[in-house]
Amino acid sequence: MENNKRPESMERITTPALAKEFIQTQTELVQRQVGDKKVLLALSGGVDSSVVAALLLKAIGSQLVCVHVNHGLMRKGESQQVVDVFQNQLGANLIYIDATDRFLDKLAGVAEPEQKRKIIGGEFIRLFEEEARKLEDIDFLAQGTIYPDILESDGVKAHHNVGGLPEDMQFALVEPLKFLFKDEVRVVGSALGLPDSMVYRQPFPGPGLGVRCIGAITRDRLEAVRESDAILREEFALAGLNQTVWQYFTVVPDFRSTGVKDGKRTFDWPVILRAVNTIDAMNATVEQVPWPLLLKITDRITKEVRGVNRVLYDLTPKPCATIEWE
Ligand code: XMP
Repeated sequence: MENNKRPESMERITTPALAKEFIQTQTELVQRQVGDKKVLLALSGGVDSSVVAALLLKAIGSQLVCVHVNHGLMRKGESQQVVDVFQNQLGANLIYIDATDRFLDKLAGVAEPEQKRKIIGGEFIRLFEEEARKLEDIDFLAQGTIYPDILESDGVKAHHNVGGLPEDMQFALVEPLKFLFKDEVRVVGSALGLPDSMVYRQPFPGPGLGVRCIGAITRDRLEAVRESDAILREEFALAGLNQTVWQYFTVVPDFRSTGVKDGKRTFDWPVILRAVNTIDAMNATVEQVPWPLLLKITDRITKEVRGVNRVLYDLTPKPCATIEWE
């Protein structure tokens, strides 16, 4: 690939002033590149695609068409935030597709993690392609590629980033962030006025909660992952840990255990809590969450989440465990 090396003269974007300069330069470059043509963007709500959306909205306004696919594996409130911020507040052209049933039907009975990833990634591309074909007069495809995506390729798990569209779809690429590191993307996102909850959010895998609902995904366990994750995030935010812990989430395995509630035997799912710190996601240490907070989260999850009667904390660093369970 040509032109994929960050220019040595490029200064690191560490301040709002440098971010504004970058935004100005990219605005002019994008305007020159696309002229009066339309640009399509898969807007997942992740940091990178959100910052690309905000940048392109500033540069080309209504020539940008965003597609947000809700694959049913998003965290609680996440798709709603994408619609609120981009459509309602920033006035973007946004096509929202609720594809929950389509994804969950395809995933039904599939237990093998890499197979699940392939189905989610493949279905995502097919759906996006269907939308792109409907839109006809699109010439460009924008992507939230950042510099580490170019530098690294991870062989451990099949990471899915949108971009693998079929060859016959002749789009030229618009990749305004491709020479930026993550911290620079965040500075640019803030300078573009995106909310902190979007710009400083923790990493979230493309296959979403699908890799945290262990084994074959069922709707009841998926709901348990989503609801317990929302409680964990709420409690971490209240304790200020959302500012310091790199990644934290819940997992629901595909086995049940015995419990007791109101004098009656229960046979329900456990929820596993995981909170880790890392610099590069290659090695990770476990956050030493204060015991009282773990007890509070346990109490809330067992009371508020249907079908859950036990909470565990994962103490394993990476290696030998990976950060995600699948
Ligand atoms: P692991 O589990 O490999 O995760 O230790 C390292 C980091 O990568 C994220 N992750 C993914 N991100 N698609 C993604 O976009 C994926 O399939 C995927 N799997 C893991 C994980 O959340 C962690 O931040």
